[in-house]
Amino acid sequence: MKKIITIVLLVVFLLMFASCRKETVFQARNLQPQTNMFLPGWSGDDSYLEQLIAQMTLVEKIGQMTQAERSDIKAGDISRYALGSVLSGGGSAPARNTPEGWYRMVNGFINESMQTRLRIPVIYGIDAVHGHNNALNAVIFPHNVGLGAIAAGDLEKGRQAAYAACYITAQEMIATGIRMTFAPVLGVPDDIRWGRAYECYGENVEIISMMGECAVRGLQDGGVSACIKHFIGEGQTLNGRNQGNAYLDRAGIERLLPPYRAAIDAGAMAVMISFSSVNGIKMHEHKELITGLLKEEMGFKGMVLSDWDAVRQVSGGTYKNQIANAVNAGIDMVMATNGRDSWESFIRLLTELVEEGTVPMPRIDDAVLRILRFKQSAGILDTPSLNGHGSIGAEGNRSKAREIASDSLVLLRNENNVIDKLRSYKNILVAGQGANDIGMQCGGWTITWQGLHGASTEGTTILKGIQEAVKGNANVTYSEEGRADGKFDAVIAVIGEDPYAETEGDRENNINIRGKDMDMLRDVYSYGCPVIVIMLSGRPMTIGNEYENWDAFIAAWLPGTEGGCVADVLFGSRDFTGRTPYTWRKSIDGEILYPFAFGLSKYKNQYGLIVM
Ligand code: GLC
Repeated sequence: MKKIITIVLLVVFLLMFASCRKETVFQARNLQPQTNMFLPGWSGDDSYLEQLIAQMTLVEKIGQMTQAERSDIKAGDISRYALGSVLSGGGSAPARNTPEGWYRMVNGFINESMQTRLRIPVIYGIDAVHGHNNALNAVIFPHNVGLGAIAAGDLEKGRQAAYAACYITAQEMIATGIRMTFAPVLGVPDDIRWGRAYECYGENVEIISMMGECAVRGLQDGGVSACIKHFIGEGQTLNGRNQGNAYLDRAGIERLLPPYRAAIDAGAMAVMISFSSVNGIKMHEHKELITGLLKEEMGFKGMVLSDWDAVRQVSGGTYKNQIANAVNAGIDMVMATNGRDSWESFIRLLTELVEEGTVPMPRIDDAVLRILRFKQSAGILDTPSLNGHGSIGAEGNRSKAREIASDSLVLLRNENNVIDKLRSYKNILVAGQGANDIGMQCGGWTITWQGLHGASTEGTTILKGIQEAVKGNANVTYSEEGRADGKFDAVIAVIGEDPYAETEGDRENNINIRGKDMDMLRDVYSYGCPVIVIMLSGRPMTIGNEYENWDAFIAAWLPGTEGGCVADVLFGSRDFTGRTPYTWRKSIDGEILYPFAFGLSKYKNQYGLIVM
């Protein structure tokens, strides 16, 4: 009997990572007892929902349209206002940042919503964008730029990585009772100075479409509803400025739609609108693109969600006029997150707008229908809450994340095949802050919104991975500054970007190597032995001709908590299969250094010929 169970589980596990194709009918069932269900999806029949809406008061309808941040509400608010959703902003976590602490908090909100007259459950949303990244000690996967690097080298491998990373992310979310994530980002960055380039799968729209589809399927097969974002044109703003203005004609818009079409076809029932503007009109009041294009032309039947207090950026002058402009443009649920007053006054002002006819009741009913369709598709109308918390950070999840992170690494330079000689070296110096910094490996959206330096959460540093890989065969010395006594056979120097998120990551011009990293490099050049440089960054950094001093150069992007991935390809048998998902220029508008999809392997040169 045990043998039969083992075989069945093995088959389930193998199927779970079956390539993510439209024809995959297999809905990966959760292996955790508390989620013996997967998303039902929208039934297509609104009769039950319309009966429910017919019973709703205006207070209950507008309550459903309100999303508040967890720290802006107090006991009794959800039941009094019939709030539709609560969220965690980046880094917002319960006092006890444990699976039980999360579950108790989230379930407390859900239970309160079940005390309302019509017992419509609240849904809790969070930015789980590369793992359950607000949760301490969750497994953190490479940011999407790294997944895009896998796909740029091998599309099918990339799709499976997107699926697996999101499926496991969903599992770790479910373990804490959360069933909605504001992910994946489907932006198409045209300018890597944009601070959100690492949240995207690279510059190629076809790759983004396929990866986004698999991300949605992985999340939703894992029991979590995706909220794809940010519609539309976020990566086309002038000079890559976050929340800036994009000049787009119809063809320019059409170019950006395939990722949304693919994700919606894959079952996404929530879309978040971009802060940015198109041709001078804020997307959050762009009726032609939200209602005309997304809802009517593309036939999107789900819920349209605003971004963080973004309604206050639209025209109109007063919050009341801004609400009218945004809701009438097609926003269904408003993330009213500028303190308690923002959601309380949202409710009061929208009530006034409806009563005076500025926002027609049919618009309210359409918004509520879409919200209820989303909640139905998420399975929460039938199963408002899960029966208990699970665990996060399981070894099996970590080893999968490490495998995916290894596949995301891109070998850009390998003079005299120095990488393959590393295993024969006896004295290795590892240098650079990034070699011993989980926070730099993970980047933004990790434990805090902006990310942190240092041992911010459980994981394996690049240094630790190397020490474990060469144990007994070589001596490893570590110096953050790159200064150590002794002779070395090789130096592994880790450079990179400080963690950032959103506008904090915008750059006016070149994305230069940090001063402390340049100082370290100059120190390690003095040893006169091969220098292998590893870069932790959300995008191609500006390296000019500095690479000429490097015997090998590896782009590691933001690999997440499993930094042992680097040792697996440097010292292990794994080869490099990643390719750069962004065109890499010597300077922001300079000559191309590495073209899109460039990358080497340890065993083959760029012509695909075996190197001896
Ligand atoms: C942020 C981001 C968005 C995120 C939301 C909630 O400002 O623009 O991607 O989902 O707020 O944290």
